[in-house]
Amino acid sequence: MNNSPEKNRAAETNVGEVLIDARNLSKSYRREEADRKQVVLQDISFTIEKGSGIAITGPSGSGKTTLLNQLGSLDRPDEGEIYFQGRDILQLSGKELDQFRNTSLGFVFQQHHLLPQFSLMENVMIPTLPGKSDQDAIHRAEELVRKVGLWDHRDKYPHELSGGECQRTAVVRSLINNPEIILADEPTGSLDHENSIQLFDLLLRFNKEYGVTLVVVTHSNELALKLDKTYSLLNGNLELIRET
Ligand SMILES: Nc1ncnc2c1ncn2[C@@H]1O[C@H](COP(=O)(O)OP(=O)(O)O)[C@@H](O)[C@H]1O
Ligand SMILES: [Mg+2]
Repeated sequence: MNNSPEKNRAAETNVGEVLIDARNLSKSYRREEADRKQVVLQDISFTIEKGSGIAITGPSGSGKTTLLNQLGSLDRPDEGEIYFQGRDILQLSGKELDQFRNTSLGFVFQQHHLLPQFSLMENVMIPTLPGKSDQDAIHRAEELVRKVGLWDHRDKYPHELSGGECQRTAVVRSLINNPEIILADEPTGSLDHENSIQLFDLLLRFNKEYGVTLVVVTHSNELALKLDKTYSLLNGNLELIRET
């Protein structure tokens, strides 16, 4: 299928090409009680190569979600720069940022956040831009839903789906606009072991087969080992602890 909407990025990616270049990121939160600052990210710098798979580990409260939110432009660092394909996303205006988020990034969270009043297929279509919900988007949604084995469930509502099926639907939704990268914050956190492996392998498939860059926060060493690199976030510092 040469006109597949799921274009094969892996084939067109130059080895070592930098997708995200994060420089000197710092983030603190004000502590109400003591008029003190809690430093969550302390002068963190790293790059993420296009097409790579990155795991971020670290104890609860170490700042993993905070870091992912900066990368996903859901929150701003106090200091630092984040270059995405050479463009400083912290300089984008509100409208540019919305567009960037919608077209370049896919998000998967611990909870699926599917809308209960919409069917599986409708949920998958929600991020497609108004007016762009044309045949291309529909074909892409259908292809992805088939690919993840949910075709027979396409007309069901979230309450009629299992936890694993809901989370797989959330992965499809994250991919519907053909993003450059998926940011997944403990995507298997609410799943049992078997479903966790299944979901992780699904993310990995999109990473390996289609070159979608993947950043996953996980507590599971077993799952982290399937990715190219593991970083640990501790005391405000990000440390590379494993590289294949
Ligand atoms: N909006 C916020 N306001 C104040 N403190 C926050 C906020 N978000 C996170 N924190 C604090 O920052 C620390 C890191 O949180 P988080 O990034 O959620 O950690 P993790 O995802 O690793 O569990 C925690 O101590 C948390 O309480
Ligand atoms: Mg978190």
